Amino acid sequence: MAMLEIQNVDKVYRSRGKAPVHAVRALDMAVKKGEIVALLGSSGCGKTSTLRMIAGFESVTSGAIALSQRRIDELPPAKRKVAMAFEGYSLYPPLTVRENIAFALKAQQLSRSEISRRVEAIARLVEIEDILDSFPRAISGGQQQRVSLARALVRDADLYLLDEPMGQLEPQLRAVLRGRIKGLLAERGMTAIFVTHDQTEASALADRIAVMEDGVLQQFASEKELKNRPANLFVASFIGEPPMNLLETEVAAADGGFRLSVGSDIAFQIPGDTLDHAARQALAQTKRVRIGIRPQKVAVGTGDVRVRVVSNQWLGDQSHVAGECAGHLLIAVTPSRIAARPGDVIPFALEPRHLHIFGADGACIRHAEGG
Ligand SMILES: Nc1ncnc2c1ncn2[C@@H]1O[C@H](COP(=O)(O)OP(=O)(O)O)[C@@H](O)[C@H]1O
Ligand SMILES: [Mg+2]
Repeated sequence: MAMLEIQNVDKVYRSRGKAPVHAVRALDMAVKKGEIVALLGSSGCGKTSTLRMIAGFESVTSGAIALSQRRIDELPPAKRKVAMAFEGYSLYPPLTVRENIAFALKAQQLSRSEISRRVEAIARLVEIEDILDSFPRAISGGQQQRVSLARALVRDADLYLLDEPMGQLEPQLRAVLRGRIKGLLAERGMTAIFVTHDQTEASALADRIAVMEDGVLQQFASEKELKNRPANLFVASFIGEPPMNLLETEVAAADGGFRLSVGSDIAFQIPGDTLDHAARQALAQTKRVRIGIRPQKVAVGTGDVRVRVVSNQWLGDQSHVAGECAGHLLIAVTPSRIAARPGDVIPFALEPRHLHIFGADGACIRHAEGG
């Protein structure tokens, strides 16, 4: 059963003299108990607005939010059993780090020794035990961010919301804390949503990733699912490194299936029996589609697509070869060293079974076989 249920939520900011901003659109999302979810998307796509509506610091313009089978969107923040670490930290300046973290526990009527024990344990976890008696203004941004994180994680809550919780930390500490936080959340069965614009962080910490763009949830799935079965062009090009190769192709019915071609240089025959009914219909009704193929699925040195090499880099464990063909740039990633130099013409193999096919509206018509 869902722990958190967001139903058809919209957020429109209206301020006098300015055009309204539609920050979140028709958001539907259900998070399971004990699940760790990453909200991933570029700046301004509505991540913070979403968290603030769940925590109660922004009202929903329309829609409903329920937590533990209890409607919460009309409740004040303190009644929601939601702990949030804010993007801007929001520490209390007159309180020490210790008091800032302990403050959240005051309402829980714990003994002084229990409060100390909890504060010190969480401070150790995020490595701020040496600054517990400092004031916020005397510590660095990265330390303030960890205090804010500790203040949220120390509480007993049904849901933890962490807004870019490690954005200010240097990579090494980030990696260490990521592991510890994941351990803490898992050990206590805590349900959490954290915001990030870093795919690696999302993959490392989250059970499922919600990809947002322009206020719209594009897909909510595991990292593997996002990679292998992207719902649309946005997710296909956003997830994965280097990004998926995308080509605009013409569609023609041929040999019981479809022929997808880019000018006279590249052509694929998609057998009819590899398409489901909806995909066959979609392809029969359109003249152009976008196809996508992961760089890791492009083979170098075989195949019938001739590319002119633009760059060829060996990264220590893999080669990234960029080649131009029919006005398109194609990237191949292979585990072996490739001898080609810029200007050389070499073959790339793009197999029809590795193609994702996207319709005019961007939605995926057919996924690649096995991702
Ligand atoms: N209080 C506000 N008033 C008006 N517009 C806002 C306010 N907060 C955020 N926005 C706008 O809403 C959109 C989404 O913002 P936000 O939720 O902060 O995105 P993100 O956290 O993904 O960067 C942006 O266009 C932002 O400028
Ligand atoms: Mg934000």
